[in-house]
Amino acid sequence: MELDVAFVRSQFPAFQTAQTKDWIFFENAGGSYVPATVIDRLQRFFVEHKVQPYGTFALSQRAGEEMDESYAAVAQLLNADMDEITIGPSTTLNLYILAQSLRHLLRPGDEVVVTNQDHEANVGCWRRLSEHGVLMREWRVGKADGELDITGLENLISDRTKLVCCTLCSNLVGTLNNMNAISEMAHKVGALVVADGVSYAPHVIPDVQTLGVDFYAYSTYKTFGSHQGVLWGSKDALRQTEGQGHFFNEEKSRYRLNPAGPQHAEIAALAGIAEYFDVLYGHHFGDAKGSLHERATKVFELVSEHEARLANILLDYLKGKSNIRLLGQDHAETGKRASTIAFHARAMPSTHIAQKLAEHRIGVGSGHFYALRCVEALGMDPEDGVVRVSMVHYNTVEEVQKLVGVLDAILAGEG
Ligand SMILES: Cc1ncc(COP(=O)(O)O)c(C=O)c1O
Repeated sequence: MELDVAFVRSQFPAFQTAQTKDWIFFENAGGSYVPATVIDRLQRFFVEHKVQPYGTFALSQRAGEEMDESYAAVAQLLNADMDEITIGPSTTLNLYILAQSLRHLLRPGDEVVVTNQDHEANVGCWRRLSEHGVLMREWRVGKADGELDITGLENLISDRTKLVCCTLCSNLVGTLNNMNAISEMAHKVGALVVADGVSYAPHVIPDVQTLGVDFYAYSTYKTFGSHQGVLWGSKDALRQTEGQGHFFNEEKSRYRLNPAGPQHAEIAALAGIAEYFDVLYGHHFGDAKGSLHERATKVFELVSEHEARLANILLDYLKGKSNIRLLGQDHAETGKRASTIAFHARAMPSTHIAQKLAEHRIGVGSGHFYALRCVEALGMDPEDGVVRVSMVHYNTVEEVQKLVGVLDAILAGEG
């Protein structure tokens, strides 16, 4: 069975709306479109119960119930418990607060492994800990294609390592890092693992029980929802954090690592993501069976096959061009590579290519995308960076074929 992409697109108002429907949207790693289920919940919250939640009156209770539905949905999607979930304003902020909350575990001379493949959100907050005498060890990408080699980590890890902070999937390179192997190595020396799943979560529904990591972070505005960041921590790992909220909220799971407090309407909208996955499940598989996590996983089996198909059209084109430097693997396969494809044309600025594509109503990104260390490590100019084509399951084969045609003309100087 294949993903019914026409049905998928029918769930997204952006594909029906005059301003957006003629655009080919390939900047999904920057933020994805949202299905009607999410928009409806956001609208309903604002219109029907935009009041302080969890109060004594009915409107307020309903507001709280809608937020609870979202906490439950996010937890169920990840196969987690609700009290293991923090929903904060963004992944950058969640990781910053997490770093503060783990600081008390670290002594001068202790070591933290960070990568130069990660988005800065999972680097800078840890590097700041060096102000307290903590030493940073950088796991570096291979020069050729930007991938991380596990032997590089092996050489860095020692009894002094207390934390390993690493992305599940770089927002430029697209390779899925083997988090089980990374975690196994880290746990052998007693280190905690913090995984950035922001570029992973649009493509995979992880089971946090088997992911191997201690903390997993992702951003819901890139996974078809409102603008929030989700941070999961195992019970054991959360016990090791120091509360960062008001002292009287420190034992409340929603506040412990979120001093900003939950953002009511945006959180209430998140249950719409799970609802959307269930709409896809119902369309493809019929009556609901199993847990939400199991249903979403089944849907994402179709999603990943479709995304690999899309990615390989572009990869097959790019890998045949001698003037193109492609980051990561040149073939997409489920479990190996996400449909986030970055490249640099040796003879043409990335911004120029992105601008030219935009003239054809093809939206892609260009730049370093806050993975500046990665772009620099690969010897590229971070000001210009790479062209990034990030595809998700609602993109179509025809869209990628059109992109290839237009890109070919641009690279030949005819576009
Ligand atoms: C891989 C990766 N990690 C982290 C982030 C930061 O997420 P947020 O914008 O929610 O802070 C991004 C954002 O682009 C990202 O791509």
